[in-house]
Amino acid sequence: MNTIVPFAATLTDRRGRPLRDLRISITDRCNFRCVYCMPKAVFGRDYPFLPKAEILSFEEIFRVARIFAAHGVTKIRLTGGEPLLRHGVEDLVAMLAQIPGIELTLTTNGSLLAGKARALRDAGLDRVTVSLDALDEETFHKMNDVDVPVSRVLEGIAAATDAGLAPVKVNMVVKRGTNDHAILAMADHFRGSGHILRFIEYMDVGSSNGWRMNEVLPSGDVIARIHEHFPLEAIDPNYNGEVAQRWRYRDGSGEIGVISSVTQAFCSTCTRLRLSTEGKLYTCLFAESGHDLRALLHSGSSDEEINSFITKLWTARGDHYSELRSSGNAPLKKIEMSYIGG
Ligand code: GTP
Ligand code: 5AD
Ligand code: SF4
Ligand code: SF4
Repeated sequence: MNTIVPFAATLTDRRGRPLRDLRISITDRCNFRCVYCMPKAVFGRDYPFLPKAEILSFEEIFRVARIFAAHGVTKIRLTGGEPLLRHGVEDLVAMLAQIPGIELTLTTNGSLLAGKARALRDAGLDRVTVSLDALDEETFHKMNDVDVPVSRVLEGIAAATDAGLAPVKVNMVVKRGTNDHAILAMADHFRGSGHILRFIEYMDVGSSNGWRMNEVLPSGDVIARIHEHFPLEAIDPNYNGEVAQRWRYRDGSGEIGVISSVTQAFCSTCTRLRLSTEGKLYTCLFAESGHDLRALLHSGSSDEEINSFITKLWTARGDHYSELRSSGNAPLKKIEMSYIGG
């Protein structure tokens, strides 16, 4: 592998935020139809997913990742859609794992994880985050609208743990009136397991989920509900800009997290850039449009040219959507979450 010489200094955007995390969506397809992400009414049988010819190849992703690493990116997360649906994902992991100084992680719905955890670990993946919205079949189905049993996801979590992809983080999106009754059972189940359960406020990502504020359960309420049964205390973040606020059980049975992008925006410390399946860069989860990196890759641009594109993009970045949402000044046209990952 040729080594890329680190570029001058860490890039900072217009709000003084460094570029640290790159989230790479490797497929826009998913075998779930979560009501808050890919509702069946929009993502039906005839939905025009990206044709293979339009998605970035592993070689292109690898090249881009190395350039970003030279820019100070220290964490890469593979997302989707469902990243484990991408054929040969472990080969991509093996390529990315060669890049020094990068923590390599992946967010999955867990349905295919039991069969792939070992290969992913062997390829060099550091950790996984698994989405799971309830433990009872009825509620789980109501959230994802497919017939995958809860046990399949739990087996995936167990396999990931056995393979050494620990600690496994478990993400539960909380939609008031649909799965908020499942909060306590989830907390109880994962207490003492070593897994870190995180509750995510239901967000207005994309334009298809029909989001309404009254379906958001504020994280403060989640904590209060759990605290009543299993006393909690707040703990410090692991690192500056951590998305989840951490809490631990007073009896020593582990920690949980809450991700409060609706009620307590964390834009001021947002160090994330997203690369879509077809090679567009998005400076915010709620961006109206992306910046075409694939065109550069396909036109034979040099690393230096790509570097200067990235530098211009990040230094011009001023996004802070979640802060604007509460002021009513947020843009209406947004990209779908399944296209740029969470
Ligand atoms: P680790 O702490 O390393 O596990 O990373 P993380 O907390 O970023 O984990 P993960 O990627 O699982 O993010 C959890 C969820 O938080 C995502 O699925 C999103 O729903 C939400 N999230 C992550 N980053 C952002 C962000 O930049 N903006 C907003 N609004 N939400 C985000
Ligand atoms: N609000 C909050 N979280 C969401 N995710 C997907 N859509 C939404 C939404 N509308 C989460 C998933 C998964 C990650 C990829 O993003 O649950 O954990
Ligand atoms: Fe698929 Fe994840 Fe979206 Fe659910 S949240 S539809 S599992 S990409
Ligand atoms: Fe970052 Fe945009 Fe999320 Fe704010 S809304 S934290 S700027 S991705």
